[in-house]
Amino acid sequence: MKGETIWVVDDDTSIAWVLDKALTKEGHHVVRFESGEAALSSLVSKEQPEPAVMLSDIRMSGMTGFELAARVTRSLPDLPVIIMTAFGDLDSAVDAYKHGAFEYLTKPFDIKEMTSLVDRALQKSVGHSDALEVTPANRLMLGESAPMQEVFRIIGRLSASEMNVLIRGESGTGKELVAEAIFRNSPRSSKPLVAINTAAIPSELLESELFGHEKGAFTGAHSRHIGRFEQADGGTLFLDEIGDMPAGLQTRLLRVLSEGRFYRVGGRDEVSVNVRVIAATNQNLEGLVEDGRFRGDLFHRLNVISLQTPPLRDRRGDIPLLINHFLSNLSREPGAEKKHCSPEVLQILQSYSWPGNVRELENLVKRVSVLSPSTMVQVEDLPKELFGEQINVSGWQDALMLTATEQLQSGQQGLMQTLGATFETTLINAAMAETKGHKQKAAILLGWGRNTLTRKLKQLGISGG
Ligand SMILES: Nc1ncnc2c1ncn2[C@@H]1O[C@H](COP(=O)(O)OP(=O)(O)OP(=O)(O)O)[C@@H](O)[C@H]1O
Ligand SMILES: [Mg+2]
Repeated sequence: MKGETIWVVDDDTSIAWVLDKALTKEGHHVVRFESGEAALSSLVSKEQPEPAVMLSDIRMSGMTGFELAARVTRSLPDLPVIIMTAFGDLDSAVDAYKHGAFEYLTKPFDIKEMTSLVDRALQKSVGHSDALEVTPANRLMLGESAPMQEVFRIIGRLSASEMNVLIRGESGTGKELVAEAIFRNSPRSSKPLVAINTAAIPSELLESELFGHEKGAFTGAHSRHIGRFEQADGGTLFLDEIGDMPAGLQTRLLRVLSEGRFYRVGGRDEVSVNVRVIAATNQNLEGLVEDGRFRGDLFHRLNVISLQTPPLRDRRGDIPLLINHFLSNLSREPGAEKKHCSPEVLQILQSYSWPGNVRELENLVKRVSVLSPSTMVQVEDLPKELFGEQINVSGWQDALMLTATEQLQSGQQGLMQTLGATFETTLINAAMAETKGHKQKAAILLGWGRNTLTRKLKQLGISGG
């Protein structure tokens, strides 16, 4: 793959130069930046063409490579990032992975190794270019939070694959949406997507629903029935609520997955199919395996690639976005006008724990928008359950989470300094109040030495210091 734009971010000009030379020789267009800040500002100003791959050093003066990767992939979620580090330690590798970096390269590196890594990254990135556009934008699967970005990223990475996927996540977190998105962005998108909900079909009918039956196979089988596996031949089968599958069927399913062949119920001829399976469950399959209620070998066959949909409480920052989306949908109904939520309502909805996740939020928005008398939804319009729960569940960690999320969304940085200072100030004030301003005693209560407390009082500008 040639002629791609590659960004190289390193404050070590000699390394940047070497990379530039090697990649230019491969036929690429290299843009060099000496800092993460410079790269980011070019991304905003669009001064340079957008990268197909970015290589970045970790340790630079100013923003680190990780911060840069996290910020850049917010606007280019599908961009492969190669993190370069002089320290080939496990921690950086794990960190690189956690930050969604594509790969990491240990300095000093071999030029060959570097160019082949870039090549691999390019293959992925170019293969996906249209995939992620479809996903978050017109997908109605919304989420700007880091956990959702991760979901989008995995969907993107899977877009060239036909492997089976297991989607796991609590009820109402969007597993079905994810399954559809994987399908729509897959090489089989023009072939059928057939869905079957294992939990919704009585177990005595499930076998024939999945595998079909021949005429006369059982009482009431008046004609041949083609099952979902055959309907999905060449395409994708979405097996929802897989954890509820009865044991006998698990064995048959395993056989289809490994051999691609099965018999219809009452049938003598083997049927061959080529089906990609996307399975979903909100159950703890490992636990079911341990209890002997789910076949371990089937679990492993399904779990080759697994994807986790995050609970809504772990992505509270997305709540306003989702509310707005649901309100807009409702306003499309004839005669409806678009409603809004007051800031207090948003605040309450953002601090609730949402055990039913997005589905619960969606239902609540529907209900409230119907019941609220004005176009602005007020606190009085909210159902009482929300408040009762809030007192029990939301502690100071929830409040802190909310504050931190809000600050991050408004673009603030250095949270450890600002919120850390607030945290320390609060504890100091509590201890000082408890001891009526006696520093020695307050220091003991806090678990600090007296000198540390004096220094902190000064630093934080608390009176008494
Ligand atoms: N990220 C999202 N953006 C917009 N709507 C969402 C999102 N996630 C879920 N929803 C909506 O929430 C509802 C529940 O989603 P879905 O049915 O996919 O969840 P699920 O994980 O399959 O739940 P269950 O385990 O109960 O089957 C749907 O109406 C879906 O459109
Ligand atoms: Mg579902």
